[in-house]
Amino acid sequence: MANDTRAMPGPFAGLSLKLIATIVVVILLVEIIIYLPSAANFRVRWLDDKLRVGVVAARVLDAVPDIMAVPPELTDRLLVSAGAVAIVYRREGQSQLLTLADTEMPREAVTIDTRQRDPLSLVGGGLDTLILGSNRVLRIIGEPEDEAGGVVEVLMPEAPLRQDLLIYSRNIFFLSLLVAVMTAAVLYVFARIILIAPIRRLTGNLVGFRQAPENASLIIAPSSRRDEIGVLEEELAAMERDIFSLLRQRRHLADLGLAVAKINHDLRNTLTSAQLLSDQVADVEDPKVQRLVPRLVQSIDRAIGFAQSVLDYGRQSATPPRPVPIVLRTLVEEAALEAGFAGHPRVAFANRVPDTLVLRLDPGQLTRILANLIKNAREALEAQSSTPGTAPEVGVDVAETGEGIVIGVFDNGPGLPPRARENLFVAFEGSARAGGTGLGLAIARELSEGQGGRLRHVDQPVGTRFEVVFPAATRVAA
Ligand SMILES: Nc1ncnc2c1ncn2[C@@H]1O[C@H](COP(=O)(O)OP(=O)(O)OP(=O)(O)O)[C@@H](O)[C@H]1O
Ligand SMILES: [Mg+2]
Repeated sequence: MANDTRAMPGPFAGLSLKLIATIVVVILLVEIIIYLPSAANFRVRWLDDKLRVGVVAARVLDAVPDIMAVPPELTDRLLVSAGAVAIVYRREGQSQLLTLADTEMPREAVTIDTRQRDPLSLVGGGLDTLILGSNRVLRIIGEPEDEAGGVVEVLMPEAPLRQDLLIYSRNIFFLSLLVAVMTAAVLYVFARIILIAPIRRLTGNLVGFRQAPENASLIIAPSSRRDEIGVLEEELAAMERDIFSLLRQRRHLADLGLAVAKINHDLRNTLTSAQLLSDQVADVEDPKVQRLVPRLVQSIDRAIGFAQSVLDYGRQSATPPRPVPIVLRTLVEEAALEAGFAGHPRVAFANRVPDTLVLRLDPGQLTRILANLIKNAREALEAQSSTPGTAPEVGVDVAETGEGIVIGVFDNGPGLPPRARENLFVAFEGSARAGGTGLGLAIARELSEGQGGRLRHVDQPVGTRFEVVFPAATRVAA
């Protein structure tokens, strides 16, 4: 089992850090969206205030019969208190101008008509003041709200407006930051209680359990939560219990397997000695002995074969395949010999594999796969009482399809018996013939899968066909 366990992140790293950062960033973004219209609004109110002072001044002018008679100190005081450099009042085609003494009229003036109030230009105006408004003059135009009517223009530097707007923006920024941090803190505490703490408990449990899955005390005890985390805890507990019992079962099976292998090994040796003895008994000329010995020899042979194949089954799964380029046709020939086709009296063998096909596979393992399949076919044909008209035949062919390289082992025998069909590929269960161990197909399948292939039975109207499919990449380019 791999033990490259990752350490749990600290309380202000991992999920918690991501949560806090996300909340702060989102709140600041929202505040920016809210800030733009509110800054524009601040500016409008500021301009309205100034205009109102301008209107008051205009009313004063209006009340004086001769404007020239007003002493300049008075007009200056009026303008300074309004923060303006000049005020113009127009009514019924006449206009009156009030300027600060000794002031040069500015060259660059920004005209702001307070009668136009579409939101977009208000926001744009606010930004314009903030960015460019340090050294310009404003020309604020508006109408007095009373019934006297007319138009009032107030000229004043833009810098004070910008200054006030900057102070306002700074206050908003600090306020937003405070709100964001406080919200993040409150949400963090809640999320920690509701989410992060249980997730950390689950994570910690998983990390610990993976280290020692055979320790039942590490199986998580689900809380009584009814939300998704509660489900997760229940499922995790169930999974850990399963893994625990599977592992325990596996260990018991492995122990048993080891014991069986030892017994089997001794049994085979004992049987081999019995075989030697039976060979000697065969020399005794007593007719009764002569009658019984062949059966004895056959039983002992079968028992040795059984013991040997169980030993092989235990051994074969341990060796990983070592692929090398092989000529498939030659390999099929060898497999057929191994499966008992060295000059068979009754059953013919057809090797339909072209001699140009080279595959990259483990030769020993592929021979075992094919030999098992060919041997099964031969045994099925031998057990069958011969039907006139059909010559019993076993064959191997190969095809390259979309699936890859398909090697087929076929015969024209009786087909799979139902008992074999039900337990196909299940070790020790699949045998449906006298003296069969039920390991051949299980071994063939395991060896195929170990090399990236797959073994399957293909239904046929006559006979039996098994196919081993290897990926197309197994083919070695000519
Ligand atoms: N070509 C075939 N035609 C008919 N029956 C088959 C064929 N191949 C396999 N079978 C059936 O499938 C069963 C399982 O085969 P498998 O090779 O796994 O075990 P076995 O041949 O009985 O024993 P072992 O191969 O371990 O000596 C066989 O007993 C046989 O009944
Ligand atoms: Mg077999």
